[in-house]
Amino acid sequence: MAFPEGFLQELKLRNDLTELASSYISLKRRGRNMVGLCPFHGEKTPSFNIYTENGSFYCFGCGVGGDVITFVMKIENLDYVEAVKFLAQRAGMEIPEDSYDDSMSRLRTRVFEANREAARYFYKSLYAPHGKPGLDYFHARMLSDRTIRHFGLGFADEDWSSLCDYLKQKGFTDSELVAANLAVKQRSGHGVYDRFRNRVMFPIIDLRGNVIAFGGRIMTDEKPKYLNTSDTPVFKKSENLFSLNNAKNSGSRSLILCEGYMDVIAVSQAGFQNAIATLGTALTREQAMLIKRYADEVIICYDSDEAGQKATARAIPILRGAGLLVRVLTIPSGKDPDEFIKSNGADGAAAFKSLIDKSGNDVEYRLEKIKSSYNLSTADGKVQFLEEAAKVIAAIYSPIERDVYIGKICKEFEVEKAAFTRQVNSINRRKNRDYEKKEARRIQNELSGRGDRFDIRRSQNPRSSSAEEALVAYLIRNPDSAEYIDGKISADRFQNELMKRYYIYMLDRIKQGLDPMNNLNADFTEEERSRIYKIIHKHSTIADTRSSLDEYINVILSESGKPTKKDISNMSAQEIQQYLNAQKK
Ligand code: UTP
Ligand code: MN
Repeated sequence: MAFPEGFLQELKLRNDLTELASSYISLKRRGRNMVGLCPFHGEKTPSFNIYTENGSFYCFGCGVGGDVITFVMKIENLDYVEAVKFLAQRAGMEIPEDSYDDSMSRLRTRVFEANREAARYFYKSLYAPHGKPGLDYFHARMLSDRTIRHFGLGFADEDWSSLCDYLKQKGFTDSELVAANLAVKQRSGHGVYDRFRNRVMFPIIDLRGNVIAFGGRIMTDEKPKYLNTSDTPVFKKSENLFSLNNAKNSGSRSLILCEGYMDVIAVSQAGFQNAIATLGTALTREQAMLIKRYADEVIICYDSDEAGQKATARAIPILRGAGLLVRVLTIPSGKDPDEFIKSNGADGAAAFKSLIDKSGNDVEYRLEKIKSSYNLSTADGKVQFLEEAAKVIAAIYSPIERDVYIGKICKEFEVEKAAFTRQVNSINRRKNRDYEKKEARRIQNELSGRGDRFDIRRSQNPRSSSAEEALVAYLIRNPDSAEYIDGKISADRFQNELMKRYYIYMLDRIKQGLDPMNNLNADFTEEERSRIYKIIHKHSTIADTRSSLDEYINVILSESGKPTKKDISNMSAQEIQQYLNAQKK
């Protein structure tokens, strides 16, 4: 797969990383860099850096780095070719014809197409005579035809091959249908059969309107109740949410997070288009980061059973960690949102609205939970409650918000505000110290490459590796010094295999008159690419001087044993002196 160099160069020039990234996250200038909270992992202190000089980013928190193409791949969940297309479109550029041949990207396109056709087929089946059981099922669950159309719901009949037959006649191959997880291979190895049979179908649609997966519900009490698309080239259930495509256009920056498909649909039918659900797994950090792009607040609306309450407790810190405000809606009498709305008949929408209005924030929710687990009429119970409550309040980030709750509790329980504040502060001081220590240790490890499973050689000779990294970073920033460097040191003096590969690669590209960083994708893996950006960022604040360059070269030479004759014959008297000094260290 290759795009022409000139095309990639122009693509990057026309898509400024800082400008593009600013539309997803807020960035502040720090020296030569722009910094902000990393969009790829939850964090409180910014470790996401953009090195504006060469349009690259690196996060010292999660170790992800790259150029503007990598950024788009990660944040929009695209593959390389799709990200290039996305950026070309954004900049109004034409993609050169026949410039790539990427089988993975072609397969993804085919899977999207197969899914779209399947969704149409399921929807049509629902209204065909043989789809009556499905339509009756949805009607019995009080869904209107309008709602069914809005969500594109459908029906998979009990035949073993009706969808496969239909899609094959449309030109899809067995292996495309298996890749889409719409079909399963026969045990015998010959042919395929439909994965979803005799189920009502819920398509899952991504933010660009692609059908990426399905959930299928059986209409009886059989198990499994829901069958979902497994991970495919276009779908990862831990990184997607049901109905976010609708919710993001609801006009509300507050989203209602439910447990299930039917909850979202019932809530939506009651007039709240801003409902979403995870896809049968616990909420993940990736999902929370995704929500944060479209919302400021999440109202957790899980089932009121024990499992739902446990899931609520787990979701709160994940949402908070992504920088979202959190409220918790409690549904009375052990129901889920769908059942609650239905049980209120014509008043369902109003009843649900009043639950939303009543929903307290996560702190109130947690304080209520703790309150109900102690006997507050005894002194012991009261003390235990206050100790637990202090922990909850200590976890609040905003000092003003903390003060509000301290005031409330002290009034309610008639305790001295100063004493309770002391309790909260001492927990907080301890926690902050722990957090800061942990953060500092992690960033230090990251910087020194300690605990680096990716590159053990680095820790075996850190002195040489550091110099090799510094040299490669220097070379990238100062391609005009390639000839000088090439004359001083040959690649076989590098000890670190990856650095050696970079060095050879960069020198070669510079000699060809190409931008050394322009087309890494063709020759390095994602992890290797992140590594090179890390090195560039690590060295971005170091001034480039000839003497620092010579120092890197000397360290590499001295660490790799005695210099060869060629090396010595190329050295100036001063360099020989420097070399000897380095040997003494
Ligand atoms: P629930 O068991 O709470 O079902 O699962 P529900 O949403 O109330 O569904 P109905 O009302 O009985 O139709 C919640 C969610 O967990 C996932 C689905 O996403 C479901 O919507 N789930 C559940 C599965 O993926 N597989 C299962 O077998 C069950
Ligand atoms: Mn339900």
